[in-house]
Amino acid sequence: MMKIAIDGTAASGKGTLARKLADKYGFVHLDTGLLYRKVAKELIKQNKNSSESLKEYDYEIAKDLDFLELRKEDLRTEEIAKLASLIATQSKLREILDLKQKQFVDESKNKFSGCILDGRDIGTKILPNADFKFFIDASVEIRAKRRLLEKNISFLHENDEKCMLQSLIKEMKARDSLDSTRVVAPLVPAKDAHFIDTSLISADELLLKVVKIIEGK
Ligand code: CDP
Repeated sequence: MMKIAIDGTAASGKGTLARKLADKYGFVHLDTGLLYRKVAKELIKQNKNSSESLKEYDYEIAKDLDFLELRKEDLRTEEIAKLASLIATQSKLREILDLKQKQFVDESKNKFSGCILDGRDIGTKILPNADFKFFIDASVEIRAKRRLLEKNISFLHENDEKCMLQSLIKEMKARDSLDSTRVVAPLVPAKDAHFIDTSLISADELLLKVVKIIEGK
């Protein structure tokens, strides 16, 4: 089975790329950020998101995670992303989720000719022997604009839009910094990853670049 690892910063285009590649080649795709987001969402739902109760409960939630449930829910709020990034610093939680991701890959072997995982530590930790590794990034201003567009909000005043953009930039910078400076599985490109900056290219141009690399053109 071909294994493709895609890592990168928030809203860099890694998720869209992973979905487009999975469609093109008929590979299975796992957005690993959803696992961290799901644990974070459950903590918020159960009112256990205070710093004292985090460790105690997130392991239990992580152990019972059901991959099939992940797509059904709205896990894409900034509140969930922020808590996801906080709990993602815990080594024991990562161990549980790492195992689940590896099991997912193992179980896909007989059903698919390839798998694509996207996240923060796929090329370095989860699939160190991946056939292809990509690290996707873009300027924080561009990434915040993309995230704002995804939210599909219509603003009455231009100033409201500017405010929201500024707050997204601030949140993203904080999350990037926490993700890349944590001790366990920090967000760093694998040595053998292809680094692509998507600040000036569209999702389709990115796909084209990556397909060329995969197909050796
Ligand atoms: O979609 P976006 O890139 O904004 O975030 P995500 O991929 O859903 O991930 C949310 C958070 O989960 C990240 O900020 C990371 O802290 C954490 N995460 C991680 O630590 N390792 C992964 N493989 C995936 C996500």
